[in-house]
Amino acid sequence: MTTPLDLTGNVILITGAAQGIGAATAKLCAERGGTIVVADFNKEGGEKTVAEIRAAGGHADFVQMDVRKAEEVEALINFIREKHGKLNKVVCAAGILLGPWLTPEEFPVEMFERVLDVNVVGPFLCAKYATPLLEAAGNGVFVIIASGAGVFGGSSSLAYGSSKGGANGLSMTLQQHLESRGIRVNTIWPGNIITDMKMHVDVEAARKAGRPEQEAHDYAAANYGLPPGVAKVIAFVISEEADYLRGGVRTR
Ligand code: NAI
Repeated sequence: MTTPLDLTGNVILITGAAQGIGAATAKLCAERGGTIVVADFNKEGGEKTVAEIRAAGGHADFVQMDVRKAEEVEALINFIREKHGKLNKVVCAAGILLGPWLTPEEFPVEMFERVLDVNVVGPFLCAKYATPLLEAAGNGVFVIIASGAGVFGGSSSLAYGSSKGGANGLSMTLQQHLESRGIRVNTIWPGNIITDMKMHVDVEAARKAGRPEQEAHDYAAANYGLPPGVAKVIAFVISEEADYLRGGVRTR
């Protein structure tokens, strides 16, 4: 018997699923019956996620792509249309954090723009090309992983904080524009989660302060969450069980 959390019959695109929160979400959604399209520019990591899903009996494909490039996002959606004929859910998990602790004077303009391109333009491009399929699906859900950064508080990185404020605004605006077309849009605000992105920042902070790197790892192990915890929230948010959910969800 299927439950409302069951994702059988759904084609689910997850960007940034080569590692971290995206990979954990891809694996859980596959366990719950979804057919997963793992999209990432990290080929090795993306293929590893797919291999793990298949080894567990699930269904997944990997598409190597860069969320900053319109033509690559369009090709990704075309691949999904040709292979599956439909797309039910999109989770935008691809993200970068560059320039932690740099002052405005130190921050390279190109680096600032790169962060905005991945974290804001990326989800916009996914919405641009995926909307027709999500509308046709009848149960379309579009999820953007923003962050508490730029929404509830600041960030170690001027660019990251700005981009996540932008991702939040994009999500709210998409929600307003797409609800009448039958697409639910939700934002996820993860707390501190142990991933390469987060640990890179914390290790850098420890190094700058002259503290041993191990301290950063010990603090994280004692205080931070893990990707599978956020994955559980995201798998719920894209399920039919969450059909009355609007706006954002904050995790530990
Ligand atoms: P991560 O660094 O482990 O994973 C990010 C993934 O995005 C990687 O697989 C990377 O290859 C992919 N990616 C980066 N740029 C890309 C591009 N241009 N095109 C395609 N793929 C690209 O990071 P994590 O922590 O799993 O982050 C996932 C999302 O969660 C990000 O949006 C991040 O900002 C957000 N987040 C993470 C938090 C944390 O504490 N780890 C807290 C709040 C938000």
